[in-house]
Amino acid sequence: MHFPTYRPRRLRQSDALRRMVRETSLAIDDLILPLFVEEGENLKREISSMPGNYRFSIDRLLEELKDVSDLGIPAVMFFGIPQHKDEVGSEAYAEHGIIQRAVAAVKNRFPALVVITDVCLCEYTSHGHCGVVEGERVLNDPSLELLARAALSHVQAGADMVAPSDMMDGRVGAIRTRLDEHGFSDTPIMAYAAKYASSFYGPFREAADSTPQFGDRRAYQMDPGNAEEALREVELDIAEGADIVMVKPALPFLDIIYRVKQRFNRPLAAYNVSGEFAMLQAGARLGWLDGERVMWEALLSIKRAGADMILTYYSKQVARALQRPL
Ligand code: PBG
Repeated sequence: MHFPTYRPRRLRQSDALRRMVRETSLAIDDLILPLFVEEGENLKREISSMPGNYRFSIDRLLEELKDVSDLGIPAVMFFGIPQHKDEVGSEAYAEHGIIQRAVAAVKNRFPALVVITDVCLCEYTSHGHCGVVEGERVLNDPSLELLARAALSHVQAGADMVAPSDMMDGRVGAIRTRLDEHGFSDTPIMAYAAKYASSFYGPFREAADSTPQFGDRRAYQMDPGNAEEALREVELDIAEGADIVMVKPALPFLDIIYRVKQRFNRPLAAYNVSGEFAMLQAGARLGWLDGERVMWEALLSIKRAGADMILTYYSKQVARALQRPL
């Protein structure tokens, strides 16, 4: 293997050669597109810090999904933005809430598309926290009942998969039990298993109108300094019945993605979150970065670290690029 016998540059000489020996590549099948849906009609409002991403009313969402399914993107993740918020996030589990109606409409039009719903309370509570609040404390166990109710209502509306993102202890088990009791034992759960308390969620919170009105989420989301704890979180969620586990955010936590894949060898999702997207977009807009190239590099690094699927606001752009003849 010594120079000059082995010359690594021999296989880097052309694009075709590089493609032949590439160890990791992105495929349309890896992509999950997050989408925001709100009440109203004929609304498609761009999220300022996330160019190319919008808040849709249901009618315009259907239009967008025509595009998404034509591009061959297999799955979407829905976030609902209700008109009314209250202390206990009632709209999160209302039979005719925004997310429940959106799911029903979408599954009716696009039965083959995998519809995943984010299960959380923060977009629906007046205080913006992911669970029930007493004073300044977010209570764990009373929140489980509401999360289980929300998950069940999504599945009853037609969701193919639910994705709890709240980080309450025991919520995967509570949701699994509730779904099973109602005959949905075949509906998978994607657990936001290692979800960190991250400032990279900033643009999302603005988009989903879910910024906590007091305090922050550090008493339930994970401390960014911890890796061993992430493995314990994943282990717990698998034991409680998670079918797919997730690490979030992705880029600042590639080591966690790698370790989770090595240790558990389960289907693994990584969430390339709003702030990761916004930062590359901002660099590109300023002319400081080549937007398309940094996109590939970032997403490839997430895949190479071990993710099987990537939730990304780049999904349409990637799918479009992958469809272009080489
Ligand atoms: C809801 C939720 C959040 C994100 C996904 N689900 C926000 C948060 O936890 O504050 C963030 C996604 C993103 O930033 O793209 N709990």
